[in-house]
Order: sequence, then C-alpha cells, then structure tokens
Amino acid sequence: MRDFLVAGNWKMNGSSAGNAELVAGIIAGAPRSDRVRLVICPPFPYLAPVAAQAAGSGVAVGAQTVSQHESGAFTGEVAPGMLRDIGCEYVIVGHSERRELYGETSATVAEKVKAALDAGLKPIVCVGETLEQRESGSTESVVEEQLGAVIDKVGIAAFATAVVAYEPVWAIGTGKTASPEQAQEVHRHIRALLAGHESDIAAATQILYGGSMKGENAAGLLAMPDIDGGLIGGASLKAADFLAIAQAAAQG
Ligand code: 13P
Repeated sequence: MRDFLVAGNWKMNGSSAGNAELVAGIIAGAPRSDRVRLVICPPFPYLAPVAAQAAGSGVAVGAQTVSQHESGAFTGEVAPGMLRDIGCEYVIVGHSERRELYGETSATVAEKVKAALDAGLKPIVCVGETLEQRESGSTESVVEEQLGAVIDKVGIAAFATAVVAYEPVWAIGTGKTASPEQAQEVHRHIRALLAGHESDIAAATQILYGGSMKGENAAGLLAMPDIDGGLIGGASLKAADFLAIAQAAAQG
C-alpha cells in the first residue's frame, strides 16, 4: 500500500517571521502517522532556515524549481546540488506556472528532473491540462506528452523515487476543485501510462492531486484509489488549513 504525501507549495509567499510561526505550527500539529509524510516548499531565500527549523521533525523540505545545470555561468539560477547541500529532499519540477509564465517546455522539465535525480533530490513532477485542453477532450494526450518526455529522459525506474502531481490548470487558485471522480480518472490514466513501462514501479509511484485542495474536499479526493496525497497551494499557507488536509490523509 502506498503512503500519502502532502506537500505545501508556498509559491512566492512568506517572510522570516511568518515562516517560523507557520513551520512551528506544522511541526507541532503533524499527524503521528507512519503513512503520511509532509513536505513544505518555501521560496529559495527561506529554504535554509526552514530546513534548519524542520530538521529532525519528520517534516521534509523541498524547493519550487531547480536549474537543469550542475554549476557555472547561469546567473540567478540554483543548482540541484545546492538544494541537497542545504537540506532539501524534494523539488517541484514543471509546475504549470513555470511552464506558462517562464516558458518551461516538457523537454526542459525532463532535463530538470534528470538533474534533480542525479543530485539525490526527489522530484515532484507536475502535469495537467488547461480548461481549453479539457474542453477539447485532450486531457489524456496532454498528460501523456508531459509525462512521456520525462519517462523518455530518465527512464521508468526513476519513478521509484520521483513523485507525479496532477494539477489541472483550471483548478489552481480558482476555488474550482476537480471532483474526486474527475481527478481519479486522470490519476488512473497516469498510473496506466507508467504501468505500460513497468507495472511494479507504477503500483508504487505516488501520484498527488493539486488544485484548490483544502480541508473540506481533501477526504473525498484522498479516498480515491489512485490519489496518494496533495500538492497544496493556498491552503498550505496557514498551519491549520494545511494540517486539516494532513489529518484527512492520516484518516484515509
Ligand atoms: P491552490 O491549492 O492554491 O489551488 O494551488 C495549487 C498548486 O498550484 C500547488 O502547486
């Protein structure tokens, strides 16, 4: 049976003082369950202090993106080895905001996933369709293209470590959550895609849902057979909101 992973993507939010309080609240209220792992993903400047605060608590820390390069003349970029060096365990790769606002293609995402894995990070690989793509019936082909590029680059065995996050773009920050059935349908398709390469790996890969997930809708989503946790935006910025989702996972 797969464990749950509940990851908070803080996006470009936070401050030193606010983060310290948020992290303390999350650590204090984290469910005492071996089956639920929490990850928090603050912006780059706060990774080291948050990692230091969370060390030994069982709450893991991740970055929101990473360079595909190891080191060198890439002004403004952060290398995967640097993230490992300061105590990061996870990194979100290919978030739809990176794809849409910063032009990350599936090929770039695949390179980043490879670089992250090579450095010993666990990538959380984001895939998901826009509203237009859903309405034109291309959800499955979009997800296949996004995930296929990564599988082609890193191989299926990498998904023993890598996590997939299905985030329908139309559900992100909109308050419109995919219904448990809508999400399950795509999660099942993603697992079938992985199983087409290697069924044992597919059965063990964690597939998270993201998009307006909150305490009120988490239990329904997490009850679905192929939903193994959440990638949480807005509701990860308050300890009580984030912990409500973690509790739903602990009871799931
Ligand atoms: P919201 O939970 O705010 O919809 O954001 C989801 C998301 O983009 C997490 O990566």
